[in-house]
Amino acid sequence: MALVTSTEMFKKAYNGGYAIGAFNVNNMEIVQGITEAAAECKSPLILQASAGARKYANSIYLVKLVEAAVELHPEIPIVLHLDHGADFATCKDCIDGGFTSVMIDYSSHSFEENIAETKKVVEYAHAHGVVVEAELGSLAGIEDDVKVSAENSSYTRPEEVEEFVSRTGCDSLAIAIGTSHGAYKFKPGTNPKLRMDILDEVSKRLPGFPIVLHGSSSVPQEYVKIINENGGALKDAIGVPEDQLREAARRAVCKINIDSDLRLGMTAGIRQHFVQHPDHFDPRQYIADGRTNIKDIVRHKIIDVLGSDNKI
Ligand code: G3H
Ligand code: 13P
Ligand code: ZN
Repeated sequence: MALVTSTEMFKKAYNGGYAIGAFNVNNMEIVQGITEAAAECKSPLILQASAGARKYANSIYLVKLVEAAVELHPEIPIVLHLDHGADFATCKDCIDGGFTSVMIDYSSHSFEENIAETKKVVEYAHAHGVVVEAELGSLAGIEDDVKVSAENSSYTRPEEVEEFVSRTGCDSLAIAIGTSHGAYKFKPGTNPKLRMDILDEVSKRLPGFPIVLHGSSSVPQEYVKIINENGGALKDAIGVPEDQLREAARRAVCKINIDSDLRLGMTAGIRQHFVQHPDHFDPRQYIADGRTNIKDIVRHKIIDVLGSDNKI
């Protein structure tokens, strides 16, 4: 099977009350860990690359790595998606370079500017058989070098979504309901709660339309502990409770973005390896431990959070 778009995946996920995991990739071992878990679980998969990933690895390497994953695992459908495309030019570059899905993230611009740029991307993407995710509302946290403070983040306004989707023609919509990027999403001692009422209001206005959740890492405390016990210093790292993500997946959310949890898994594996084997200096030994953790984390997400196992 060649790379696919998310159209069919989202239709089935919406009707089946589950979500597809969209996992960020930056190097070969991350692609391998994620894809092996998805193949074992018989789960559809979205592999996504941010601007930072494309700069770090070079977009051509990432495309070729994902194409290798597709060749090795023809039994599962795989989407290659641009995460947080900053403008039309970035989206066009990815569409021309073999991506099957792009996100145009103009959510920090005005409503009208967001519509205009998204529409431009949709026209070009659809003419090339590529689908488009857009965003309304803004999440707190860090993406590349852009840091949005909690005060400057804003929930999606449900009264805007119908006009936005009908005027842009986008294929899916990322909304802000209380998640945020990075490993420090909530203050210790608080009771994290996603705004399911906003999600429900949005989906009432857009029946059958796929909704996307960014900033959906849960920051597994077992990996934070391993990092801190092996020389790390992550203080008060807190993520989104998994039961709330499962609940969102049962509703209209069809795509759930996870990156920070993979970073924690990779870091925990490598830190632990260094402490346990101070004599090792072959990167294949310690990076493999990071890759094993990524595979374990993705397997757990697919089965216990997303519910996308055995769906192909
Ligand atoms: O949305 C943020 C993702 O975790 C990507 O992060 O921009 O540092 O690659 P990055
Ligand atoms: P996390 O930082 O919660 O993993 O979010 C990743 C994300 O939204 C990528 O677009
Ligand atoms: Zn994101």
